[in-house]
Amino acid sequence: MKEFKAKLQAYAQQTEQQLDCRLPAQPDDRVTEAMRYSLLAGGKRLRAALALEFCAALSGDAMRAMPFACALEMVHAYSLIHDDLPCMDDDDMRRGKPSCHVAFGEATALLAGDGLLTKAFEVLGSAEGMSFSQISRAVLTLAKAAGHQGMIGGQRMDLENEGHEVPIERVKQTNRLKTGELIIAAVTLGCIAADADEQTLRLAQSYADNIGQAFQITDDILDCVGDQNELGKPIGSDSENNKTTYVSVYGIEEARRIAEEKVKAAQQALEQMKLCASADFLRDMAEYILVRTH
Ligand code: IPE
Ligand code: IPE
Ligand code: MG
Ligand code: MG
Ligand code: MG
Repeated sequence: MKEFKAKLQAYAQQTEQQLDCRLPAQPDDRVTEAMRYSLLAGGKRLRAALALEFCAALSGDAMRAMPFACALEMVHAYSLIHDDLPCMDDDDMRRGKPSCHVAFGEATALLAGDGLLTKAFEVLGSAEGMSFSQISRAVLTLAKAAGHQGMIGGQRMDLENEGHEVPIERVKQTNRLKTGELIIAAVTLGCIAADADEQTLRLAQSYADNIGQAFQITDDILDCVGDQNELGKPIGSDSENNKTTYVSVYGIEEARRIAEEKVKAAQQALEQMKLCASADFLRDMAEYILVRTH
């Protein structure tokens, strides 16, 4: 786990440096300032790391996937800005700082989210070192994952689920869309950057689907029992908003057990993959998703 954390941190630093270059500050431009505020505000950079590591494990060169990693983190940062808005989860803190709308006002936060979503596709469209075919597959993948039948669809379901009993299959589907889709897109983009074959892609997506489920269950557990300072976002947000989660349905212990099962399933998919480098980082990533405290 120590090696994993060091490598994750290295990926995060490389990604942040690239994000900084790709979105330079502009004088007298509050929207760009708000975009940079939220994009460069820290965060674990797990989606970037997944794209980079899959590319490394399949082609030997992580950095080929850097434009894709940046686009993923832009979409993710946008989703967090909008997720925190008063009309959504109404959360005042994100990544240990005031949420974007608290720091800049709602209108600017709304535009900053829009700006980051759009910028992500500009970055994909101009991805250096990629063929037209790789770029078009990446654009299609990210657009579908982020869109109304992907993450936005999940956010819709998440709002609809508030305040009443929801079958667990629907909670699962909500999580798959709101959180899983972007994680699946991350590994898919890593595979596209590495020109992976179909069989490899399917196993990678199965890994991502499972860690995505485990990731949201852990997020919901941390919302109950996490430490707000460590987490960098408010705890108790889900119960305040009457969200239906694995925790509200099953309780913490059972939710944790289900997350552990998902991690095992992810690791099994990984074992079946033919990689040109060690699978340690990806195996540890699945484990980390369970034990993380932020
Ligand atoms: C938080 O994602 C939002 C969810 C999808 C649950 P992360 O926990 O990856 O957030 P950062 O990027 O590290 O801040
Ligand atoms: C968010 O789920 C999923 C997104 C698409 C942003 P949550 O609402 O649980 O994420 P946090 O807890 O605010 O980070
Ligand atoms: Mg939410
Ligand atoms: Mg939220
Ligand atoms: Mg949450």
